[in-house]
Amino acid sequence: MRSFVVTLTLAIYAAVAGAQQSSVADAYFANQVPISKANLLANIGPDGSRAQGAKAGVVIASPSTSDPDYLYTWIRDASLVYKSLVERLIRGETDLRTKIDQYVDSQAYLQTVSNPSGTISSGGLGEPKFNINLTAFTGSWGRPQRDGPALRATALTQYSNWLIKNGNQSYVSQKVWPVIKLDLDYTAQYWNYTGFDLWEEVSSSSFFTTAVQHRALVEGAALATNLGETASATSYSTQAPNVLCFQQSYWNPSAGYVTSNTGGGRSGKDVNSAIASAHNFDPSAGCDATTFQPCSDKALASLKVYIDSFRSIYPINNGKAANQAVATGRYAEDVYYGGQPWYLATAAVAEQLYDAIIVWKAEKAITVTATSLDFFRPFSSSVVAGTYASDSTTYTTLLNGVQAFADGFIEVIAQYTPADGSLAEQYRRDTGVPTSATHLTWSYASILTAFAARNGEYQESWGAKGLSATASCDSNTGPTVSVTFNVMAETVLGENIFLTGSVEPLKNWSPDNALALNPSNYPTWSVTVSVPANTQFSYKYIRKNNGQVTWESDPDRSYTSGASGTGSTSDVWR
Ligand SMILES: *[C@@H]1O[C@H](CO)[C@@H](O)[C@H](O)[C@H]1NC(C)=O
Ligand SMILES: *[C@@H]1O[C@H](CO)[C@@H](O)[C@H](O)[C@H]1NC(C)=O
Ligand SMILES: *[C@@H]1O[C@H](CO)[C@@H](O)[C@H](O)[C@H]1NC(C)=O
Repeated sequence: MRSFVVTLTLAIYAAVAGAQQSSVADAYFANQVPISKANLLANIGPDGSRAQGAKAGVVIASPSTSDPDYLYTWIRDASLVYKSLVERLIRGETDLRTKIDQYVDSQAYLQTVSNPSGTISSGGLGEPKFNINLTAFTGSWGRPQRDGPALRATALTQYSNWLIKNGNQSYVSQKVWPVIKLDLDYTAQYWNYTGFDLWEEVSSSSFFTTAVQHRALVEGAALATNLGETASATSYSTQAPNVLCFQQSYWNPSAGYVTSNTGGGRSGKDVNSAIASAHNFDPSAGCDATTFQPCSDKALASLKVYIDSFRSIYPINNGKAANQAVATGRYAEDVYYGGQPWYLATAAVAEQLYDAIIVWKAEKAITVTATSLDFFRPFSSSVVAGTYASDSTTYTTLLNGVQAFADGFIEVIAQYTPADGSLAEQYRRDTGVPTSATHLTWSYASILTAFAARNGEYQESWGAKGLSATASCDSNTGPTVSVTFNVMAETVLGENIFLTGSVEPLKNWSPDNALALNPSNYPTWSVTVSVPANTQFSYKYIRKNNGQVTWESDPDRSYTSGASGTGSTSDVWR
């Protein structure tokens, strides 16, 4: 209830502050929001005009069928798109309800579809994308991706909370909760395993994934309690603090920003963290850094280094001052489609800043810390760490500076949006011309959520208020079973057999760290490994001879572990 009162007040503040907003951004949103909503809905089956062949409730990523082929449904994209629709439903667009119910039904079915990541009970919920007729996509891909179930649970939990408030708990219990429960059971079991990041490139731990998992478990535990699902509530509220503790470890104190992935060998400056911050916005949590709230010093510091990483590499950013917005992409090292700016990345920057402004206005103060000082300096070169109340000139200077800065990102997007309002995935770094997939559904959703944040519109609290991280972190590798891998392989002198595969205990496909097998029953080589229970994974054997690595031929081998006990393989080198 408290957050409800807070946000109502905020909406008024935002309206009052309208005078300081950019008229270019005003005009852009006035035109682009209805276009974005219409184009977003056009990408949802069964009747969206660009979604022919998609089942009811299925979001296509983009209608583009080649260069790139995005005519698939991604769990992540669809969840974020539907989260934006649920938010609009909560704000009164009740005509969206049928679409949301179709989403619930489509996802309940999709969870049962066996796929290369496994079945409903062996890790299949980590599968990132499916065909739009809800069959499995079986080509090779970066899998699993463990943010999808958490994001879907969040969209559906928000919907459930609204249904319960409106006296419809029975539909929640019968239809929505079973989907959420499977997603959160998966999240509770697998949050402490690596997977591919939201850009489907790096297999490691990823800040975005961890942060969205934490949120989903917290609000899911509260929903479970509400529904009398006490065993689930206990499971989720046991793991949530462990996830929050782990989330803190991404902060790099010496460099002063969140490193987005633990692997991948990049700087780690990535819009990953801005999207996570905006997604996990909870106005009741103020500027709390533990949950990476948009106005927290750590989130602002991370945002600044991320933005600045594009100033010199994109020609369209030439000549922009440090307090001016620029085009931004996923991360500076990006080479996909030549490494261009992305609309949804630039919109996420604006959204995080608009969220921050909502809280500063509500709290009638801005706090600058040593960590966030660099973020604020471009708006006031003399600012020092401290708390500035809303009647101070520093507060006004900073607030107006950040507002103009945030609107500036929308002005960048406006400049590079074609006259018909269509939004592709990317716009070129040299010319600003749209490129890659056309009509990207997530691009449209990113405009809708940035606009809502700018208007200070209703944001439901998810329970971030007052959370703190424990000093030492508990892991959760969950139940394991012991599997003996046996492979018949003849070798020459000096040659040895190793094993690697898609799960942590098999060293995540690392030939360097692959497990050595024992030849005491030569020509059978063996090694016994503890692997996660109820999990499907892939693996291969490799030969190493004096540093020279030879892989087995394709395809990958696959193994599904049981719930308990032991297992073994009898493979022959191929
Ligand atoms: C579903 O879509 C895929 C990919 O387009 C296609 O190969 C498959 O035949 C379709 N299956 C059914 C049952 O329609
Ligand atoms: C509960 O919500 C569902 C899903 O929107 C709807 O189909 C059903 O009619 C509602 N029931 C009541 C009693 O409002
Ligand atoms: C598992 O959690 C522990 C404790 O937070 C952490 O040190 C470790 O890096 C985590 N590993 C993965 C893969 O999440």
